[in-house]
Amino acid sequence: MQIVFAASECVPFAKTGGLADVVGALPAELTQLGHRVTVYLPLYRGVLEKLNKPKTAIPSLTIPFPFYNRFVRIVDGGLREGVQFYFVDCPELFDREGLYGTQAGDYPDNAERFGLFARAVLEASKQLGVPDVFHVHDWQAAMLPVLLRTTYYFDPVLRKIPCVLTVHNAGYQGWFPPKTTEQLLLPWDVFTMDKLEHFDTFNFLKGGIVYSDAITTVSPTYAKEIQTEEFGFGLESMFQRRAADLHGILNGVDTSAWNPATDALIAAHYSARRLEGKKTCRRDLLHAYALDAVPETTPVVGIVSRLATQKGFDLIAAIADDLAQEEMVLLVLGSGETYYEKLFTELTEKFPDKIAVRIGYDNVLAHKIEAGSDMFLMPSRYEPCGLNQIYSLHYGTPPIVRATGGLEDTVQEWNAETRTGTGFKFKGLDPMDLLAALQRAFVAFQDTPGWQQLQRNGMAMDFRWKNPAKQYVAVYEEVARRRS
Ligand code: ADP
Ligand code: GLC
Repeated sequence: MQIVFAASECVPFAKTGGLADVVGALPAELTQLGHRVTVYLPLYRGVLEKLNKPKTAIPSLTIPFPFYNRFVRIVDGGLREGVQFYFVDCPELFDREGLYGTQAGDYPDNAERFGLFARAVLEASKQLGVPDVFHVHDWQAAMLPVLLRTTYYFDPVLRKIPCVLTVHNAGYQGWFPPKTTEQLLLPWDVFTMDKLEHFDTFNFLKGGIVYSDAITTVSPTYAKEIQTEEFGFGLESMFQRRAADLHGILNGVDTSAWNPATDALIAAHYSARRLEGKKTCRRDLLHAYALDAVPETTPVVGIVSRLATQKGFDLIAAIADDLAQEEMVLLVLGSGETYYEKLFTELTEKFPDKIAVRIGYDNVLAHKIEAGSDMFLMPSRYEPCGLNQIYSLHYGTPPIVRATGGLEDTVQEWNAETRTGTGFKFKGLDPMDLLAALQRAFVAFQDTPGWQQLQRNGMAMDFRWKNPAKQYVAVYEEVARRRS
């Protein structure tokens, strides 16, 4: 099949979270299965320098808006691992400091930016290759199916092309004022409760859910959760309505980038059979946080995360005093909302030899934490899939997680008697349950042979992209069949 991806993030070009890892890995896996994949991304600031001999594929596409046109260039980024990359170049909208905004907030013209992106992908596809299926990701690309099934309805080239939407996070929907309908030249009849209107806002993601042929999310548990009030962020009834076309496909991980036996960013290599190198990684990590004196018997707990409400850090704040009584150190790497940056900075000041924080985005340190920590903490309020706990399983760093979404699907509670399981889980939102899970991990850590078994159980798990890629192909084939 010929598949066109449209997304707002992709490693190594632009990343704020796991979406970039997925868009960076799944297409290459699909080509391995014999499909042809093209990925469209916005040409953000700094991307051009990352391209090897970029060429102009289309010098100018006209993207209409009420009373003015914008003109975008399509840049040919060439082939990477067999995947064709094209970039939508519109400097006045994409040549900016951030992808979606700055610390001061989201860019006010995001509807125009990502509305233009979707239209540019449709127009470019007609010239550069009409796919058998469009696969769009999150609200930023969700206008593509809306346009496809409304203003492009009579397009003889595109009208039969199906579209699959993957929801990586239902908490981000792209809410804009009602007048966005006119701004994106859509008919007003899309602005109704059963389509894009949501409590008098214009909702990109809702549009994507209504107008896509199938919807996927990134874990089976999250596919069920988003149909409930607690996790649907107001779109639960829309997800329920599409339940027959809603699939939960667990993300894979890129084992070439995240593998302790080959990782160039960590201090020593190790594997399930030969774990010794992990000790060197631990020393190296403690050194990076200026905590060299921590004894080997003290468990090192790592966190790498966007600092957002989703990630459940208020639960950690609630138990911080109790946690500081435990024999452990907590090492944090994160950036994001000022509120959580401040929260962690204050915790460090209060417990300087127990909690250490690095605020920022640092891929090298992220790898060092996965490898050098003894255990990895992810107390997310909700987690569509979560990649860090999967990386930590691979790195022999058992995860401690809240049993939600992909965390529920990827981690199995350790049982010291049967020696089964891969980590530690807690349910609900009671901070004491998080503390109890941490304490179970600290106890288990003292039993070295048991702990090594726990590490090896996680390291033996198979999260290669091959399986999820096959599941996506099954979805593509199903929607293509239905439209043919
Ligand atoms: P989300 O997409 O919700 O942020 P995931 O667990 O799916 O959560 O993906 C997070 C990705 O971003 C991982 O690849 C992780 O290593 C990376 N990441 C998050 N925060 C940082 C940071 N501060 N520094 C480096 N990498 C980070
Ligand atoms: C989102 C989710 C995360 C998921 C990632 C990739 O950012 O928050 O759980 O792993 O997308 O699908």
